Amino acid sequence: MSVVDTDVVVIGAGLMGHGIAQCAAQAGCRVRLWGMSREEVESALARIGASVAKLHAKGRVADPPAAVVARIEPVTEFERCAGAGIYVESVVEKLDVKQEIFRRLDALAPAPALLASNTSTIPISRLAAATSHPDRCLGMHFTSPVPLMPVAEVIRTAATSDDAFARGVAFVRALGKEPIAVHKDLPGFVFNRVNLPSTVEAIRLVELGVASVEDIDKAMRLGFGRPMGPFETADMVGLDTGYYALCSLHAESGDDKFRPPDLLRRQVEAGHLGRKTGRGWYQYDAAGERIGMAPPP
Ligand SMILES: NC(=O)c1ccc[n+]([C@@H]2O[C@H](COP(=O)([O-])OP(=O)(O)OC[C@H]3O[C@@H](n4cnc5c(N)ncnc54)[C@H](O)[C@@H]3O)[C@@H](O)[C@H]2O)c1
Repeated sequence: MSVVDTDVVVIGAGLMGHGIAQCAAQAGCRVRLWGMSREEVESALARIGASVAKLHAKGRVADPPAAVVARIEPVTEFERCAGAGIYVESVVEKLDVKQEIFRRLDALAPAPALLASNTSTIPISRLAAATSHPDRCLGMHFTSPVPLMPVAEVIRTAATSDDAFARGVAFVRALGKEPIAVHKDLPGFVFNRVNLPSTVEAIRLVELGVASVEDIDKAMRLGFGRPMGPFETADMVGLDTGYYALCSLHAESGDDKFRPPDLLRRQVEAGHLGRKTGRGWYQYDAAGERIGMAPPP
């Protein structure tokens, strides 16, 4: 990884953004983590501190936790993000919000800066179109929880330069993840095109009364060796994030296999977003530990 690529800005301090910032800091990068409010970035930093301490205690991170956290500067003013080598955008899965971020970054990130998006479903070319340098734009799609998952997709558009793509791949490797090269900018890329239809089907089976949430999760864990079933995963990811991803993928592809089920929409409208709100498909205590099934939605 070149020196310029160790100067990292992560835009978005939510579930994914704080995890990406943590991995970059663990890899020795200097990181600026931009969030919408002081509370958000401070809470992100506290979560990072707790996670690095756990990983350090298990011997998975060599550096002392305080040294890792000290590499991350929390920022809330966009202008403070100027002049980095790699930008990773990880804000809410909404096209207009991400396009606006890319438009603003374009002015702050002169060559050779890379502009990467952690979008789950939005074509990278739509974000690159908001910039004057589509050759330096690419997708970098991590999975949750970022510090524990050993893989990330790197997505190129028709305009992404070979150099930008190679730097993206090298950055992902430097973060300790196996890069999956995605050569076409198809909405949903690889992970979600394969995974989301099975989540949609699982929710439809519950809607039809074919099987319970708990039994479908059990089936996928025991029958297919998955560490978590689709509902357990959805609660961790956030039902809103999954719903927005499906809305975007359905709109982009027109394919009914991605149409968000009504049951999922109702959960999101009711504010039952999974672990982060204490209730999704299951219920959680204040520490995020599962305490049982949620009442039927
Ligand atoms: N959750 C997952 O498992 C997962 C996995 C891979 C990729 N992603 C993608 O990562 C991105 C972030 O998802 P997340 O799970 O961290 O969600 P999250 O809800 O935890 O965080 C969303 C972030 O977006 C910010 N935000 C909301 N509205 C904004 C606005 N108008 N302007 C700027 N920032 C705004 C919020 O402040 C927050 O920091 C999404 O594109 C999502 O599709 C999520």
